[in-house]
Amino acid sequence: MTQTSYYKHHIFFCLNQRENGQDCCANHGAQEAFDHCKAQVKAAGLAGVGGVRVNKAGCLDRCAGGPVAVVYPEGVWYTVMDKSDVNEIVESHLKNGQVVERLVVPAHVGR
Ligand code: FES
Repeated sequence: MTQTSYYKHHIFFCLNQRENGQDCCANHGAQEAFDHCKAQVKAAGLAGVGGVRVNKAGCLDRCAGGPVAVVYPEGVWYTVMDKSDVNEIVESHLKNGQVVERLVVPAHVGR
C-alpha cells in the first residue's frame, strides 16, 4: 500500500533557548525566522494539508550549524540566519522543490 504524505513539506525550526548561558538557536534569531516563515508560507498560499506545515521544535542537536531548520520528507537541514534566507527556502524549496544548496548544513556539523 502506498501512502501519500499528509504534508508535502514539513519544516521544523529549533527554537531552543538555553538558560545556562550556553549558545543556542534562540540567541541567533530563530524565533524571528520561524515567525517569518509561517507568515511567508501562508502568504504564498502553501499552508495546510497537501502543502506546507511550519512547526517549532526543541533542540535538534545540530546546534553548531544553528540556527537550524530541517525540511521533511527530504531531511534537508538548513542554517537560517535571516528573513532573506527564509524567503529563499520558501520560494525555492517549499514552493518549487529545489534545495537551497548555499544554506545546507555541512554533513559533519553536529552539536
Ligand atoms: S539549540 Fe538549536 S539545534 Fe541545538
